[in-house]
Amino acid sequence: MSSHGSFQIIGHRGAAGIAPENTLTGFEIALRYCDAVELDVHLVDGVLAVIHDERLERTTDGEGFVRDLKREQLASLDAGDGQVIPRLDEVIELLERHAGLRQEKLFLNIELKGPHTAPGVASIIRETKSLDLLVSSFNHGELQDFRELDGTTPVGVLYHRWRESWRETASGLNAQAVNLSERIATSKRIRSIRDEGYACYVYTVNDRETARRLASFGASGIFTDRPDLMGSLMEARG
Ligand code: G3P
Ligand code: MG
Repeated sequence: MSSHGSFQIIGHRGAAGIAPENTLTGFEIALRYCDAVELDVHLVDGVLAVIHDERLERTTDGEGFVRDLKREQLASLDAGDGQVIPRLDEVIELLERHAGLRQEKLFLNIELKGPHTAPGVASIIRETKSLDLLVSSFNHGELQDFRELDGTTPVGVLYHRWRESWRETASGLNAQAVNLSERIATSKRIRSIRDEGYACYVYTVNDRETARRLASFGASGIFTDRPDLMGSLMEARG
């Protein structure tokens, strides 16, 4: 959630357009340009690994399913530019360090990408104090599991296809945000979400024109692979 009510620029998978996605370097680079980042988690051998795909090939030099890894292997695969696949607790530590240095709260959106990620996330964030958190997922069952374990951390329901049932889903989860793909993010839908008191963040927006348009529709912010291109939009809400 934006702590200052302005249009929030959220680095998508860190800064996926200019740095290896979902890596510690990627998050550090994103933080040069914005104060919010998004990441994806999968459960790997009992730990939460920060990686988007269920397979390793696209973003690492490994092969096969992420879920088949042993935890030691996370630090042995190359996730780009010599970076490894980080654990969620390592990313949180990095962000908390930056929050301390900047003396401001940073925003972290944890997307529950893989199955059975809710319990580990609920447990890890229990001690997290210096970050504004949002836990989101396309998997609304996983979000429900999270909500049952954690009744207070803000939750965001993700949609890549529009569903008129979003109201029941969001209210059943006691959600704070309803986040949309840019392909379905019309002015009317954003307005209806905002009018009912939810935040609405839109993914993935890599050009300023689209970002500006979404701000004028009342969107709360965007997920972007190119936070470096979005300077000054933080005050852009129409
Ligand atoms: O949460 C916004 C965005 O990350 C959802 O899509 O596939 O990039 O995780 P994806
Ligand atoms: Mg994501």
